[in-house]
Amino acid sequence: MIDRIRRLKEQKNAVILAHNYQVPEIQDIADFLGDSLELSKVSQELKVSLIVFCGVRFMAETAKILSPEKRVLSPVPDAACPLADKINTRQLLDLKNKYPDAWVVSYVNSTAEIKALSDICCTSANAVNVVRNIPVKQIIFVPDKNLGWWVKKNVFQKEIIIWEGFCYVHEEFSLEDLRKSKEACPGAEVMVHPECRAEILECADYVVSTSGMLKRAKESPVKKFIIGTEEGMIYRLKKENPRKEFYSLGCPKVCKDMKKISLKDVLTSLEEEKFELELEAGVIAKAKKAIGKMMKYV
Ligand code: 13P
Ligand code: SF4
Repeated sequence: MIDRIRRLKEQKNAVILAHNYQVPEIQDIADFLGDSLELSKVSQELKVSLIVFCGVRFMAETAKILSPEKRVLSPVPDAACPLADKINTRQLLDLKNKYPDAWVVSYVNSTAEIKALSDICCTSANAVNVVRNIPVKQIIFVPDKNLGWWVKKNVFQKEIIIWEGFCYVHEEFSLEDLRKSKEACPGAEVMVHPECRAEILECADYVVSTSGMLKRAKESPVKKFIIGTEEGMIYRLKKENPRKEFYSLGCPKVCKDMKKISLKDVLTSLEEEKFELELEAGVIAKAKKAIGKMMKYV
């Protein structure tokens, strides 16, 4: 199957982009593996016409928005991010009416329609930088309350109105698990994703995006790490740091949608050139402005 995928990729001049949470066999065949910010950047810079996007829907949408001339395929089109659906356009429009002077900063884990109504986007890797540097005092931050809390903690001089969405996977990490993991692994560095609950963020050594974890693991003199994010990341951390040890904070947490895509789905997607992502031109044009502005803060 791997050989057939490779051959088809060459024949069709296609690339496979995969998020750090994908199953190991997809991580292993991907041309580019990364966090949301890296994948957005790569999709924009690629000189190919066909992208097979192994991740959840908002990630494939972001690639399409940045490069509407490219064909973006989602091997399993119903792989979605429940966090992205925590706010709808009606709710965001109500907020915008209530705070007419505020800028809307939407976390990239949002629908294309929400991005189209936003002033700027951000990812977990650049959220603090974006909010700190945009030229307004009042900000509506959607849809993740934990990343919003983290941004607020790090940017004092702004008024941030935070929407109460959350990621069900990262909400599961508990202080009790953290206590037990630290006891079992004394001296380990604790790295967590900013979608974890505030009390977890407060106790971590590093609050970073998935690729931020990889960077820190490579640079750190420490040999053992406790990881507060989806289990797919631990596969990549171990693979690229074979002399270091990585443990999940509590039992491993799984994002069901990220795991919907199999190697067979990737093969079928390349063979049959499906499922092609379509977005309305008007939505693309508006969302592109918001994502494009965030690219200054890469
Ligand atoms: P990253 O951009 O840090 O990879 O996060 C994406 C995500 O969905 C986290 O749950
Ligand atoms: Fe969405 Fe959470 Fe899955 Fe990330 S881990 S894709 S935020 S549901």
